[in-house]
Amino acid sequence: MNKVMDKISQGVYVLTTFAGGCIVDSVSQVSSEENPLLTISVRKENYTNELVHENNKIILSVLGKDVDGRIIETFGFHSMRDYNKFENIDTMDVDGIKVPLDSLGYIELEIEERIENNTHTLLLCRYQNSRELNVGEELTYNEYRRNKTKNKKEGSTWVCTACGYIYEGKNIPDDFICPICGADKSMFEKK
Ligand SMILES: Cc1cc2nc3c(=O)[nH]c(=O)nc-3n(C[C@H](O)[C@H](O)[C@H](O)COP(=O)(O)O)c2cc1C
Repeated sequence: MNKVMDKISQGVYVLTTFAGGCIVDSVSQVSSEENPLLTISVRKENYTNELVHENNKIILSVLGKDVDGRIIETFGFHSMRDYNKFENIDTMDVDGIKVPLDSLGYIELEIEERIENNTHTLLLCRYQNSRELNVGEELTYNEYRRNKTKNKKEGSTWVCTACGYIYEGKNIPDDFICPICGADKSMFEKK
């Protein structure tokens, strides 16, 4: 991937729905009427993909620059299949959906359409409601990549040389597959 692709600016969000959720950066506002449309793409192998086929209501929490890195670690590097992400994160309940308290705010969305690709489901979502929780600047994906989150540990960052995805942890499991581009462990370089 060349450097021009890095210029495409994206944010970092927690997508939650009933019984799960994950970090997403692939969020775009595609219309600007009173209840705008947003798109979000969710990898098919993620447990969250199953959940967004079972539920029409989802919530996007907008992460700020000072977000506790445990939120990204928990929702972005673990699967709800084998780990209860809500156990150690402070959340509030919004109509049965848990949202992290450490966010700038959340947006309630209704899924109107699902567009299926080989690797991803593109969700076409209609804005319903939103609420500000904390004042601050939003975290961008590029800033995240530059490791601005609070709990970054020295020498424990691996970068996917194919897409720039960052894995935090001392060692990458042998069977690790990049959740963004599908590259295997050999494509990761220690930073
Ligand atoms: C910064 C960042 C951005 C991510 N963006 C996306 C994304 O846009 N879509 C997606 O499906 N997964 C994305 N992921 C990966 C998922 O959050 C991750 O695979 C998660 O562990 C899936 O959990 P689940 O199996 O419980 O759904 C991202 C992860 C990080 C750290």
